[in-house]
Amino acid sequence: MAEVTLEGVWKIYEGDVEAVRDVSIAIPDGAFCVLVGPSGCGKSTTLRMIAGLEEITRGAVSIGGRVVNDVAPKDRDIAMVFQNYALYPHMSVEKNLSFALRLRGIKKDEISRRVGHAAEMLGLTELLHRRPGALSGGQRQRVALGRAMVREPAAFLFDEPLSNLDAKLRGSTRSELKALHRRLGATTVYVTHDQEEAMSLGDMIVVMAGGVVQQTGTPLDVFDRPANRFVAGFIGTPPMNFIRGSLARADDGRSWIFTERHGAATLRVPADEATEPASDAVLGVRPQAVHEIKDDNEHRACAESGRLLTVRVHMVEPLGEQMDVHATIGPDTPAVFRVPHHAGLDQSKPIDLAVDTPRLRLFEPGEFGASLSAAAQGSALTGAGQEL
Ligand SMILES: Nc1ncnc2c1ncn2[C@@H]1O[C@H](COP(=O)(O)OP(=O)(O)OP(=O)(O)O)[C@@H](O)[C@H]1O
Ligand SMILES: [Mg+2]
Repeated sequence: MAEVTLEGVWKIYEGDVEAVRDVSIAIPDGAFCVLVGPSGCGKSTTLRMIAGLEEITRGAVSIGGRVVNDVAPKDRDIAMVFQNYALYPHMSVEKNLSFALRLRGIKKDEISRRVGHAAEMLGLTELLHRRPGALSGGQRQRVALGRAMVREPAAFLFDEPLSNLDAKLRGSTRSELKALHRRLGATTVYVTHDQEEAMSLGDMIVVMAGGVVQQTGTPLDVFDRPANRFVAGFIGTPPMNFIRGSLARADDGRSWIFTERHGAATLRVPADEATEPASDAVLGVRPQAVHEIKDDNEHRACAESGRLLTVRVHMVEPLGEQMDVHATIGPDTPAVFRVPHHAGLDQSKPIDLAVDTPRLRLFEPGEFGASLSAAAQGSALTGAGQEL
């Protein structure tokens, strides 16, 4: 078992393609770390540098306290599972599992111990004599996992291992992976572009964009205290809504008054002392951070306390217990709100929403605008070495 550390790691491909830029991540021994981000953000490249399949342009990768930049993949004591794992079709499950061990000249007794153990953990014992052709997709995926397990590596690396499975199987294999990690306790680095998968699997999440780490933290950190607007918009379903406007300090000294740039909304945002806000700002509203106002009393109370948001609805998407309300704020700001489902929402006139203002987040303008909330700034600064 081992911690995996990246320090100032760069990957520059031919033609000056900066695929990974100054990435530093400290993954504690036994952690389940998920690298997540949109396509092309450098996740696979990062993982492949840890595995030794890609040369490191600059910086250092350590496994178990040893710098491995110049150590061959086979000597790094890691096992990698790819999206397109290939099983040997003419070999039984048992042979597939033991193949690498036999190549390494490991003793028969030891091989059967490891294969037996992996098969038991993965529920493959009954299938050891079958060939891959006679297995379901999920079972094949488990064999691929088993092949990595029998190596008993210091760390497991996964690159989108579930993306070939259908939604249902992906869900169940995901739970199995999580349970397996709990039992094995081996350091795991897992790559996915799917933020929901990242949130459900990881105890440590690294959000990447454009080859750069945007934030490192627990699932709750990245969801609740996003370091910047990119992270805020990437994590969460439906994505956070963003409203452009300006900020002014409120009289009470404990909050800011946010005004939508066309004056379509005025909201009071709780704030921590010190930082003087830039006047231009972007307000982040989670789709779940509102509810429909019930009556005139509530309407009045919300208006007085700066919690009222009036929107125009143009589509309602029923989801069973809940519904997504697609709306517009002011002349042209699109927004989606997720509220309990009910019939008879009058779409012909604006609807009034009460905003759960402590859940509002403020950002500097721009796609990567930094969070203006003190708590998030703290988490971004300490993110890399954060305790889990
Ligand atoms: N061999 C290469 N030569 C040049 N550029 C490359 C090479 N391999 C990858 N890249 C570029 O490096 C960037 C990062 O690629 P990478 O495969 O790490 O992305 P990713 O985050 O894994 O994306 P995906 O989710 O699509 O798998 C991309 O812009 C890609 O085009
Ligand atoms: Mg990839």
